[in-house]
Amino acid sequence: MSQPKPQEPMTGNAPPAPADAMKDIVALCKRRGFVFPASEIYGGINGFWDFGPLGVELKNNLRDLWWKHMVTTPPVGPDGAPVQIVGIDSAIIQNPKAWVASGHVGGFSDPMVDCRETKFRYRQDHLIVLKADAHNWIAFHQEASTDDIDRKLKKLGLPVRKTEYERVPLTQVPVSEYSNITGPDAKTKGTLTEPKQFNLMFDSHAGPIKDDANKVYLRPETAQGIFLNFKNVLDSTRVRVPFGIAQIGKAFRNEVTPRNFIFRSREFEQMEMEWFCHGDDAKKWRDFWFSERTKFWQSIGLKSDNLRVRDHDKDELSHYAKEGLGTADIEYRFPFTAPDFGELEGIAHRCDFDLTQHQEHSKQKLEYMDPDDNTKRYIPHVIEPAAGLTRGVLALICEAYTPDPNRPSGVFLDFHPSVAPKKAAILPLMSKGEHPEIATKLYMKVREHYNIDLDVKQNIGKRYARQDEIGTPFCFTIDDQTSADHTVTVRHRNTMKQDRIHLDSVIEYMRTNMNTATGRS
Ligand code: GAP
Repeated sequence: MSQPKPQEPMTGNAPPAPADAMKDIVALCKRRGFVFPASEIYGGINGFWDFGPLGVELKNNLRDLWWKHMVTTPPVGPDGAPVQIVGIDSAIIQNPKAWVASGHVGGFSDPMVDCRETKFRYRQDHLIVLKADAHNWIAFHQEASTDDIDRKLKKLGLPVRKTEYERVPLTQVPVSEYSNITGPDAKTKGTLTEPKQFNLMFDSHAGPIKDDANKVYLRPETAQGIFLNFKNVLDSTRVRVPFGIAQIGKAFRNEVTPRNFIFRSREFEQMEMEWFCHGDDAKKWRDFWFSERTKFWQSIGLKSDNLRVRDHDKDELSHYAKEGLGTADIEYRFPFTAPDFGELEGIAHRCDFDLTQHQEHSKQKLEYMDPDDNTKRYIPHVIEPAAGLTRGVLALICEAYTPDPNRPSGVFLDFHPSVAPKKAAILPLMSKGEHPEIATKLYMKVREHYNIDLDVKQNIGKRYARQDEIGTPFCFTIDDQTSADHTVTVRHRNTMKQDRIHLDSVIEYMRTNMNTATGRS
């Protein structure tokens, strides 16, 4: 496993969500309908999650903002003209030859070690070995806390020394030394097997006959659907190199150790864009997309010390990426990685690897012909900003999670208004009489413009608490004064301060404040 290179975090003033916040975040997500365990009534299924009514709104908001930023209003390029990007939506299952050509059948695998004692299986590159003395080493997951490690040391009768022992990634320990290691969940030494490669692609069969001839794969990345349609897009649109093709959709990986809630799951969504350019310009575009993608995450609320950029080490590069060509990650400091960071988006220079591979395997020409000089033909290079939609949702929730002992809910979600699932709530003070009538009228008007809630029942404190917990930026309350002078109160989520505005100016008020309201204040 490679260690992150220390790099300055981006500026900002938000503290990371506390490390122990994860349990509360998962509980809040379930309680308020963001994320549920898949098949929960049957005991769940490891690595699969369902998005609830608010989770799907949050996810769709992130998806739509990404699409807007990349496809409908893409940024202005280094030469001052807007860049060209078109979207596609390709099939999840493609001809299996595509996955041979892309290198996924041969190379999309993780090294696995098994434990003979517990029968558990681990990713070799996720385990760290702590050397307590010359012959007593323990392996633990890279995300294990110091307390977990100390508990294990105690159990094994080894001195608890907090962080003092030497730590080495298991990938750097020769197999001949495995006899010294006690596995993460084992009681005895020497039970870890030597590493074996394990392919991460889910497979199935197309059609009624389940034999090898009909074997198909669920895509492990959305990117390949883009390469497969490179020629179709060139032939059917007016795009010219440099240009991009974007896609959002499901991807599937049979992760050995799905963990950390929706951070690493077996079914997830990606937002990927393949930027086709001349090889000579790849560096320029790589820098451009790094800056654009970072700005994007900052613009939707991740404006804090919790975001940083990290270059890939040589041993982390994917099979398509070449060393020294600037593959790097935008990382977020999730509560379970803190004080370290975890990948949120990878930006790879894929060179001409994929198109060359597909050209060779399909025997179809995938070259680009320069329209100004048709003697110039070449396979474009690719810069690929590849973000996790599901993982992005988790980063937004972690960033928004703000414990606050001064309010009844004890916590509020400080979503940037652009991603908040509900932009406002209309709350009549009383559940009968004129208040709900006025509230319903206002709701019918405002809902044409914004996704809002009308919440009539329960005492007002409880209703505010609910809106705080789901991150609604504004609550408009109808009270006795509303009938007298046609005004309502606006309660601001972060400050809990209230203003009074005219009923007729609610939409305008939202429009003005939605754009200027920041996430964390
Ligand atoms: N086409 C390149 C590609 O797929 P990747 O770094 O493997 O690159 C891109 O994946 C992004 O997809 C990651 O940065 C991460 O946000 C997300 N991702 C990858 N595996 C995931 C998983 N098992 N669960 C959730 N998100 C995942």
